[in-house]
Amino acid sequence: MRYCRPVKQDENALCSARQGIHKFGNSSCKIPAINAKMIYNVMQCNEKYWCKGCVEMGETKRIFSGIQPSGNITLGNYIGAIRNWVPLQDEYDCLYCIVDLHALTVRQDPKELRERSRSLLALYIACGLDPEKNTLFLQSHVSAHAELAWILSTFTYIGELNRMTQFKEKAEKHSDNINAGLFTYPVLMAADILLYQTNLVPVGQDQKQHLELTRDIAIRFNNIYGDVFTVPEVFIPKVGAKIMSLQEPEKKMSKSDENPNAFISLLDTPDVIMKKFKRAVTDSEAEVRYDAEKKPGISNLMNIYSSVTGKTFSEIEAEFEGKGYGEFKVAVGEAVIETLRPIQERHKELMDSKDYLDGVMKAGAERAGKLAFKTLSKVYKKIGLIPRIL
Ligand code: TYM
Repeated sequence: MRYCRPVKQDENALCSARQGIHKFGNSSCKIPAINAKMIYNVMQCNEKYWCKGCVEMGETKRIFSGIQPSGNITLGNYIGAIRNWVPLQDEYDCLYCIVDLHALTVRQDPKELRERSRSLLALYIACGLDPEKNTLFLQSHVSAHAELAWILSTFTYIGELNRMTQFKEKAEKHSDNINAGLFTYPVLMAADILLYQTNLVPVGQDQKQHLELTRDIAIRFNNIYGDVFTVPEVFIPKVGAKIMSLQEPEKKMSKSDENPNAFISLLDTPDVIMKKFKRAVTDSEAEVRYDAEKKPGISNLMNIYSSVTGKTFSEIEAEFEGKGYGEFKVAVGEAVIETLRPIQERHKELMDSKDYLDGVMKAGAERAGKLAFKTLSKVYKKIGLIPRIL
């Protein structure tokens, strides 16, 4: 684990991997008894203590997730993804990636892509991901992602990729550039996840199909070569897994939407946020009531409001009973503005600290690179390639 350092055995320290049940050296622990002479078998990480044995046995569950720097990160990305990553950082070994290689499947302006990648790293931190607790890095800085993707593409069928709804949607939207990368995109995503022996992948609803394919690829590979990959589980939040467009509430809120009124960017100013909510498409009734099918616009706003305030749908319905949509929209706007205010302030500070961000990027890539290389070497051996000689 990153930032782990061997420390002297502390009789009173509890092994976090075992959730504080076992004391070091407890005979009921599966790992060999640790005694005072084996001082390097105790690791301290993020204020917690871990038996080295537990760490090696992989009992610290690993998390991987990522976001494309393909546009301004939206409230959908925040509610469906980043926000849920933050509480995981204390319990899990988390790797959060800026998946810049994925963004290349749609033509990018080079300067803007570089700026957005850096800005996304700053946003990860501003949203509460502590670089001391998480591995934050750029996908293109760890070449093993592309290497494993190539290998996994030989274990993925065209028919499987043809079924991916996101490919179909993107191919329709970018009909002038249906490149091979757009088609094999889910294979790169599988490589991202499988490289790190990931246990859990926290994502929004739209990534479920890609995760199912990742699992199928891992199982297929393992069936031939033994247990090489951990088969990951998907973690989708109960509320906010699919935030919809403010202009077409039957469509997902997307950072690449051509209509800027359709999405809230995490970096939109308070005025712009309020204007976008006021313009949000609703229905001809005047009742704040949750009904995703008949009232998609209002239900989406309720979803957003619930996600940022923690209020349940029935609490929201009671709060706005007899009040019009106008008042509700303003309340949603205010709640979102207040949620984003500290994030925007921190983001601004971080964007002025170039050296700090570079340091985070470098340390993240180093740690991720080591982990990735371990899996890649194992894969090389299994399939008949000679692992790189270091
Ligand atoms: P991306 O960049 O489209 O979205 C990043 C994360 O945000 C979630 N999300 C949403 N959640 C709720 N409502 C929305 N409107 C909304 N829009 C996006 C997504 O579900 C996702 O969790 N292919 C991925 C990036 C990726 C990845 C990975 C993710 C590449 N490799 C490995 C996990 C693990 C993507 O395009 O996400």
